[in-house]
Amino acid sequence: MKTLLRGRVLSFTAEPVNADDSSAFTYFEDGAVLVDGGEIVAMAEFGDMDASGAEIVDHRPNLIMPGFIDTHNHFPQMQVIGSYGAQLLDWLNNYTFPAETKFVNSKHAERMAVKYFDEMLRNGTTTPVAYCSVHKESAEAYFAEAERRNIRALGGKVLMDRNAPDGLLDTPQTAYDETNELIGKWHGRGRGLYVISPRFAITSTPEQLEMTQALVAENRDCYMQTHLSENHDEIAYTMSLYPQHSDYLGIYEHYGLLGPKSLFGHCIHLNDRERALMAETQSVAVFCPTSNLFIGSGLFNEERTREDGVRIAVATDIGGGTSYSMLRTMDEAYKVCQLQNQNLPPLYAFYLMTLGNARALGLETDIGTLEVGSSADIAVLDARATPSMALRMETVETLAEELFVLQTLGDDRSVVETYVAGIAAKPV
Ligand code: GUN
Ligand code: ZN
Repeated sequence: MKTLLRGRVLSFTAEPVNADDSSAFTYFEDGAVLVDGGEIVAMAEFGDMDASGAEIVDHRPNLIMPGFIDTHNHFPQMQVIGSYGAQLLDWLNNYTFPAETKFVNSKHAERMAVKYFDEMLRNGTTTPVAYCSVHKESAEAYFAEAERRNIRALGGKVLMDRNAPDGLLDTPQTAYDETNELIGKWHGRGRGLYVISPRFAITSTPEQLEMTQALVAENRDCYMQTHLSENHDEIAYTMSLYPQHSDYLGIYEHYGLLGPKSLFGHCIHLNDRERALMAETQSVAVFCPTSNLFIGSGLFNEERTREDGVRIAVATDIGGGTSYSMLRTMDEAYKVCQLQNQNLPPLYAFYLMTLGNARALGLETDIGTLEVGSSADIAVLDARATPSMALRMETVETLAEELFVLQTLGDDRSVVETYVAGIAAKPV
């Protein structure tokens, strides 16, 4: 069955090079996207579209754009959001690890997976990249729920064999065996993709990082994710555990974990060598602004990281992060840049949430744009969703200004509908 979505259609084609770079996107004021079999088969002016045989859904005057991509968050941390008064290592020990311990229970994991994908879709996010807990049950629940909803979802069980409660520890061998089992079951099944997920160097012994190296080497089509240089105490503790390495990234380098499919969360306090090595290996730095502010970790240097040639992605980092919304996330990203006298133009912010994040995952032919051949993973946004937004919109004259209203004031209320492979899926 064909569906034609009519509205103001916006899709990026390139990274904007300045605040009003209109060559970086396609925009139709009265446009339409034609969906057939879960795929986009046409994107054009409404008047130029052959809508015969299609059900027409009129979203005017709202914006039709690619669904958002959240490149780093923690599925077992939904009940950790808003935990008071701690910086990273205390926050992990006092709140996060106890919450993750519960995911040994499949029933708990399954209940949370339903809530997790509900929140993603409520906020217009159609592709998440998740850390599950150490328990393979949590990854099973995550991928099974994504499959049920036909969601392009990436994730993996975390590998951690020290410096955490007993209920959260695997061993190098069980980490290897269970990850292999999960890759065999879920990688490339439906729309699922597996991410090998050593939590961070503090919670992995050298033996476990060696096993991780083997997993990465043996599964080149899978992704790798970990945390890097988030907090000063974390860095000092890490270097005390791995004193033979000159810097934090050098540890992951030693174990062969860098590369174009490697996602490093945070990257706030990198030195020059680490930044150059990230760029050289095409590794991705994932900027998580609400988390970095909430846990008090520091200010990600977006300009410097980009100018040094490091690939950048953006993410919520739930539950260190405080919102499931990529709009709220980019609002905080803007403020992080402001505090360093840097700019984050709305066109660039919307590029990052869509095509930019898709490119970071190497998935831009399937997600992140509305180009023909992409999956019809779509968010419909209303910049007048609240009284204050409607009032502000009375004075808005350009598309970039409207996007900035969405970025600054928007949240799940601005998401009118979320389509997953062409099917309306925003929970009520
Ligand atoms: N570093 C290691 N684990 C975590 C986590 O769960 N959240 C954040 N923000 N940083 C981490
Ligand atoms: Zn994280």
